[in-house]
Amino acid sequence: MGRSSEARKPMPAFLPRAALAALSSLAALVLCPMNPVLAGEVVDTHSYANSAEVRSTHLVIDLDVDFSKRSLKGLTEIQFEKLKPDADRIVLDSRALDVRSAEASSDGKTWTTTKFVLGADNAVLGRSLTVSLPAGATRVRIAYATVPEATGLQWLKPAQTAGKQQPFLFSQSQAIHARSWLPLQDSPAVRATYEAHVRVPKGLRAVMSAEMSEQLDSSGRWSFHMPQPIPSYLIALAVGDIAFQSMGPRTGVYAEPATLKAAAYEFAETETTLALCEKLFGPYRWGRYDLLVLPPSFPYGGMENPRLTFVTPTVITGDRRLVSLIAHELAHSWSGNLVTNATWEDFWLNEGFTEYLTFRLIEAQYGKPRADMERVIGVSELKTDMALAMSDEDRKLVRGFPSTDPDEVFSNIPYQRGALFLAWLESRYGRAAFDAFLRSWFDDHAFQSATSPQFVAYLNDKLLKARPGKVSAAQIEAWISQPALPADAVYASSDALTKVDTARDAWLAGSATLDAMGGEAWTVQEWEHFFEGFPNTASSAQLRALDTKFKLTGSSNAIIASHWYKLAIDSGRAGELKLMAPIEAYLGHVGRMKLVSPIYRALIATAAGKAQAKAIYKKVGSGYHPIAQQALERIIEGG
Ligand code: BES
Ligand code: ZN
Repeated sequence: MGRSSEARKPMPAFLPRAALAALSSLAALVLCPMNPVLAGEVVDTHSYANSAEVRSTHLVIDLDVDFSKRSLKGLTEIQFEKLKPDADRIVLDSRALDVRSAEASSDGKTWTTTKFVLGADNAVLGRSLTVSLPAGATRVRIAYATVPEATGLQWLKPAQTAGKQQPFLFSQSQAIHARSWLPLQDSPAVRATYEAHVRVPKGLRAVMSAEMSEQLDSSGRWSFHMPQPIPSYLIALAVGDIAFQSMGPRTGVYAEPATLKAAAYEFAETETTLALCEKLFGPYRWGRYDLLVLPPSFPYGGMENPRLTFVTPTVITGDRRLVSLIAHELAHSWSGNLVTNATWEDFWLNEGFTEYLTFRLIEAQYGKPRADMERVIGVSELKTDMALAMSDEDRKLVRGFPSTDPDEVFSNIPYQRGALFLAWLESRYGRAAFDAFLRSWFDDHAFQSATSPQFVAYLNDKLLKARPGKVSAAQIEAWISQPALPADAVYASSDALTKVDTARDAWLAGSATLDAMGGEAWTVQEWEHFFEGFPNTASSAQLRALDTKFKLTGSSNAIIASHWYKLAIDSGRAGELKLMAPIEAYLGHVGRMKLVSPIYRALIATAAGKAQAKAIYKKVGSGYHPIAQQALERIIEGG
């Protein structure tokens, strides 16, 4: 599977929709004079939804999970409000859904069949699903089935799980994949509450990003309820042999039984992080905060599904050193889930904020040296991606025009450039004033979606004007809309990481022994830094000595293993060190894009390596998540 760029059609022109939005904004202004998103003025080019006219408010989702067909059979009800009273249709997003019928109702009791039309298929956006609204209709419902290749779902064989006995299914809706398993208005500018009922095979359990029932309901289904309005990309589902262990009053972990104990140990400090987060940024508004550990093919490190963060098992290292990932997903409960980027061009409002908050949380919980280590690593990832970026447009915090596919422009830039921008503002106004500003940003926009211009206007109002002379509008403009990083960015430094540089370079230069390097005591962050500054010119004897001493090949730490394999390939030594078999085993087991993409990218740099990459991908590619398959195919075919 995977969508090749040749097949991609040009973006449809949305001018008529923008014009309609402008017309309807007058009516919407009466509803909410302040927020252009609520007023329907924001144009999300990644959704077909006519949300300026008719906007969904609540979903009732009913799903039958069929592992043998790799399909969800669904009946999804969309309740809506009309911003334009005479609107006679609701436009939804869909991708590769087998739509069987549409019905409408005014009271939720009597339903009548209504007309639906699927628009032309676009490789990125899928198809619009336009449902006619009879007079008085307040809701529609769609009967449909998903296809096995649905981009927002991964169906795992038992062999791909920890327990090896039962299949597993999980969703990944961000950015625009919810539409591949739910017909809905798939835009982050639209929020809705939801309830869901999910029927699964005997012995399996369903979990969702919602309040969850502890047991099957009377009709043999798992039931869920999300009382806070959320954007569609936060709707999430997983089904498998899933057990639960409590970690604290509000926190716990779901995982396969084989993984549960290690996970509960690894993440035991989450309750403390949650309390710190509230102290810094205001009340946690979602009830519980649980984690779900996924099988290793999960394509991301973590996903901030509300109440239930999805997390890769590759952060379970036994030493609790990778919990900044949990801090990050938890922080999204403010930046992202509470205040949401209104379009995918505003992605930094989610991720840049969240990285800034993460560094603050790590600092509060583990001290400044550890936070500064993370900050330095963040900047080095930023520099890598600034160099890799295809164009200046991708180097900006906010692109001047929308991307075709949000997955395609995904990088560390919105994360780390965004975090640097906020750190720079903090340095200008002082921590106390900046914290108060952040907190009021969250409070004033709670359960709303926001755009970058809205943020700039708010910043202008609350800080630039209120405390004149510290920051200029031109500086803000440079941070957001210029490709180059401003020269006065404030960078952290880390003594521990500087020591790693010194030790590595002394060993490589032959002025110190490997024993003197001190690697035994390094944390994963020190190892990451060690590899990031490693030249590609080491001899095979040096690499072999490094591997022998630190047992890098086959390391149970997937982050260290990924760096090591990349280094061996970049140095042209993977063959002579007999690493191709372990590399293939690794690529066949781990599906986290951040760990596997660099290895494929390193391989394709030479003609021989490219052939190896293709051969490995041919063998193991079907085990990757559809989103990872698409990203990896782009690397392998593009390079
Ligand atoms: N929301 C993101 C993951 C994401 C982004 C999924 C865009 C799909 C589209 C999540 O919060 C995230 O940033 N995960 C990072 C972890 C991190 C500690 C920076 C990841 O997966 O690497
Ligand atoms: Zn994030």
